[in-house]
Amino acid sequence: MSETTEKKVMLSGIQPSGALHLGNYLGAIKNWGARSEEFECFYFLADLHTLTVRQVPAELRRHTLELLASYIACGLDPEKNTLFIQSHVPQHAELGWVLDCYTMFGELSRMTQFKDKSAKHADNINAGLFTYPCLMAADILLYQPDYVPVGEDQKQHVELTRNVAQRFNNLYGETFKVPEPYIPKTGARVMSLNDPASKMSKSIPEGCVFLLDKPEEIQRKFKRAVTDSDTERCVRYDPAAKPGVSNLMSIYAACTGRSYAEIEAEFDGQGYGAFKPAVGDAVIETLRPIREETQRLLADKAYLEGVYRAGAERAGAVANKTLRKVYKKVGLLPR
Ligand code: TRP
Repeated sequence: MSETTEKKVMLSGIQPSGALHLGNYLGAIKNWGARSEEFECFYFLADLHTLTVRQVPAELRRHTLELLASYIACGLDPEKNTLFIQSHVPQHAELGWVLDCYTMFGELSRMTQFKDKSAKHADNINAGLFTYPCLMAADILLYQPDYVPVGEDQKQHVELTRNVAQRFNNLYGETFKVPEPYIPKTGARVMSLNDPASKMSKSIPEGCVFLLDKPEEIQRKFKRAVTDSDTERCVRYDPAAKPGVSNLMSIYAACTGRSYAEIEAEFDGQGYGAFKPAVGDAVIETLRPIREETQRLLADKAYLEGVYRAGAERAGAVANKTLRKVYKKVGLLPR
C-alpha cells in the first residue's frame, strides 16, 4: 500500500449473490480502477449481508471467489486497493451489534428496501433482514470514510448511517466521521437486451450478458436482442422512439469508443441485421481479456487467498482501532 494518508477514504461493499454482468461493468466497475489515484479505496464482499436471504453454501463460496477474481480482472489492483471479505474482519459483526442498540425500530421500519424484500421473501422475514442497515452502517463507520459510492437503492441506508453516526457522536463525543454518499460518474446505462425498458439484470438472464459468458453465448444473446418495431429499420440514436437500438448503440459506443454519429455513419443503409452481430463482436472483444484473466485467477487459488488475507489484515487494523474506541466510549471493560 502506498503512503495514502492524505488521500480521502472511499469504501464500498458488494454482495456476492450472483455473477457480474455487462451493465455492472460498463455502468460502474470499469471506472473503479482509476479511483485509487485519487482516493484510498476499500472494497469488500458483503458475504454476511447475503445471509439475510437463503443461500446455497457451496454457491456462496464460489460466488465470493469469482467476484474477487472478477474485480481484479476488471482493473482493481489489490496493491492499490484494499480488497477483503466482510466475514474475515469480525469487527463488522461486533460493531453491527453495538449499532443495533443505537438504531430505532421505527427508523428501520421505514427502510424501503426492507419493505420490498419482506414482500418478496414473505416466508423468511428474519431479524437480519430488518437490522441489515445497522450492519451496513458498521461496515462503513469502521473505516471512517469520506465517501461511500452507492447506487440509488442504497442511498437511504447511507442516510441512516449518517444519522446513527451523528447520534453516537452527540452522545459520546466525536467518534465516527459522518460520510457522504458519492454519486459516481455514471458510465453507460445498460438496459436488458430483451426488454429495453428495464435495466440489465441477472433476474432476466436471457437479456443479460454475464462477464463470464462464452463468446458464442454472447453472440446468441445479441442476435436475439429486441430491436424496435418502427418502420425505418435504420441505426439511429433515439431512446424514446427506438429504445432497443439506442441501447445497443450505447453498448457499442462504450465498447468501441465511437460516437453515436460515427456509429450511424458506419451502419448507414445496413439495417439491424448487420448491426446486432457487430455489437456482439465488440462486446466479445471487450469481455475477452476480463473473462480470461478471471479464469486464470480462479485457477490460482493461492494467489486469491493471498489477496484476501492481506486485505483482511489491512482492513482489520483500521476496523479494530474504531471498534476499540467505540467499546471504550460505551463502557465495555477492556480485556
Ligand atoms: N447493501 C449494499 C447492497 O446491497 C451492499 C453493502 C453492504 C454496502 N455494506 C455496504 C455498500 C457498505 C456500501 C457500503 O448493494
